[in-house]
Amino acid sequence: MASPKDVLRKSLKMVHGCPMVYAFANNWEEVEQFRSRPDDIVIVTYPKSGTTWVSEIVDMVLNDGDVEKSKRDFITAKVPMLEMTVPGVFSGIEQLKKTPSPRLVKTHLPIDLLPKSFWENNCKMIYVARNAKDVAVSYYHFDLMNNLHPLPGTWEKYVENFMAGNVAYGSWFNHVKSWWKKKEEHPILFLYYEDMKENPKQEIKKIATFLEKNLNDEILDKIVYHTSFGMMKDNPLVNYTHIPNTVMDHSKSPFMRKGVAGDWKNHFTVAQNKKFDAIYGKEMSGSTLQFHTDF
Ligand code: A3P
Repeated sequence: MASPKDVLRKSLKMVHGCPMVYAFANNWEEVEQFRSRPDDIVIVTYPKSGTTWVSEIVDMVLNDGDVEKSKRDFITAKVPMLEMTVPGVFSGIEQLKKTPSPRLVKTHLPIDLLPKSFWENNCKMIYVARNAKDVAVSYYHFDLMNNLHPLPGTWEKYVENFMAGNVAYGSWFNHVKSWWKKKEEHPILFLYYEDMKENPKQEIKKIATFLEKNLNDEILDKIVYHTSFGMMKDNPLVNYTHIPNTVMDHSKSPFMRKGVAGDWKNHFTVAQNKKFDAIYGKEMSGSTLQFHTDF
């Protein structure tokens, strides 16, 4: 029987044309055949875009900002990750099967890989997008600490791989563009990490409205406070320190790293930035999707 160490630091494996985390790729039929429920709420992001943050917010919104209820379990149990599987340790699908409705389902899947059942059931989805450069920096540090991913190598090499889509879940460009387009025909609330940083209360209100929850100002303020970076960084239920350090090694880089917009400026060289901008211009031409980059 496979064990966690069989899947650590392995090369990505292609799944229907998308580079996938090796541990998750072996389980693909089960992912494809996943049965959604009509009241599932799907939280979709490209990795490192604020998934954990929005997951904790959505859980609190559904529980009327009840802090005690938010402490009932780890974030990985409250919002299981659909495609996540570590042999002998964890299966997102098994976790989801035993979760009562309404379930919160976390995934990083590109549109084409999302199980069909979610479309058939017209499930509500919340997508969070984050600017590409900060995602690249955050992903690099994540790959340093997350042993389920291949080692990232040097930053210089990594940024090339990121631009080419040679990282888990493939091209950031295709991911954000296609989810942005999909919202024209499906109930998707499209949010930006940068807006959440700038005005968290306003973005939490959007989430509440989308989920048909009427929350007063006091509750909204409570959610803003409880889900601030400082609070989440120190909260062992959401900061991923509960994951065995054979899988996530926080001494390499903490999961809750900086939590800011614009950290890319501390990492990109002038030449890397120039090349990135050129590729960005090409990849994003023809899409109406715009990010705030004035930070
Ligand atoms: P950094 O590495 O830039 O700090 P995900 O949950 O999708 O993996 O995203 C992780 C990123 O979101 C990390 O970014 C993490 O620090 C940041 N993050 C997590 N919780 C946050 C919060 N409450 N406020 C702001 N950023 C948060």
